[in-house]
Amino acid sequence: MADEQAEDQSAWASKGIDITVPSIARTYDVVLKGKDNFAVDRAFVDQIVTIIPEIYDVATYNREVLGRGVKFLVEQGIRQFIDLGSGLPTVRNTHQVAQELAPESRVVYVDNDPIVLVHGKALLAENDRTGVVSADLRNVDEVLSSPEVTALINFDEPVCIMLVGILHHLHDDDDPQGIVNAYLDRAVPGSYLFITSFCASSDEAREAEKSYLGMLGTGRFRTVEEITAWFDGLELVEPGVVPNPLWRPSRPVDTDLTVGQRLIYGGIARKS
Ligand SMILES: C[S@@+](CC[C@H](N)C(=O)[O-])C[C@H]1O[C@@H](n2cnc3c(N)ncnc32)[C@H](O)[C@@H]1O
Repeated sequence: MADEQAEDQSAWASKGIDITVPSIARTYDVVLKGKDNFAVDRAFVDQIVTIIPEIYDVATYNREVLGRGVKFLVEQGIRQFIDLGSGLPTVRNTHQVAQELAPESRVVYVDNDPIVLVHGKALLAENDRTGVVSADLRNVDEVLSSPEVTALINFDEPVCIMLVGILHHLHDDDDPQGIVNAYLDRAVPGSYLFITSFCASSDEAREAEKSYLGMLGTGRFRTVEEITAWFDGLELVEPGVVPNPLWRPSRPVDTDLTVGQRLIYGGIARKS
């Protein structure tokens, strides 16, 4: 985004976009080397780089596991995905991975950042099997009763609830477990839950949490046990909840992982 146009605050404010504070979607866009971000977002990432120099790679690992996870789910027969906290469009979005393998797959993206609506809607809702909902995923009933969800998702068939790179942006008092359960309650047996989340796996991670909470207002780095508990009552598929690069890697991976490789853990589980 060209700075001279991007930094015109009043023009963006009219679209509901505040360029004076960093946003989750735009800072993630920075680490994915996208163009939909502002100076304040880049300044935040510069601060995180001083703690986690590999933060750009961390975003790549998360996108890669999203792709591997969606491919796995399509191979299990899943044809419906609700991608909560979907972010700005980037390479290999959920519908592209799923529809490449099974063109009939349907995907609803949900995000509450207005920039996703401004820049993402046209790209994400690029065919009649894909929709975008602008909503806070914590409002489960609002999301599930949205026209996009009711048109594209058949709750009599298995569905994947995706919470990839997002539950760490919910505070403990948002009750992430209650939100996970509320989405799963609507899903029939044979449905899946797919989560990745920041993990308090190193001193650097715990230090980064302070910067996220201080500057961005969210970013809880939870223990492996806390992340694993979100899957309670479901059948975790192998290899369980692991650092992103170790979840069904497509090529051999050195298991002696760096701080960045251990920064986000994830897993997929089936409702029986
Ligand atoms: C780090 S990005 C993750 C994007 C994508 N899921 C991925 O893993 O590549 C998190 C996204 O969640 C969105 N988000 C944060 N809180 C949200 C909420 N309460 N409801 C809906 N979206 C939210 C942000 O706007 C951002 O786009």
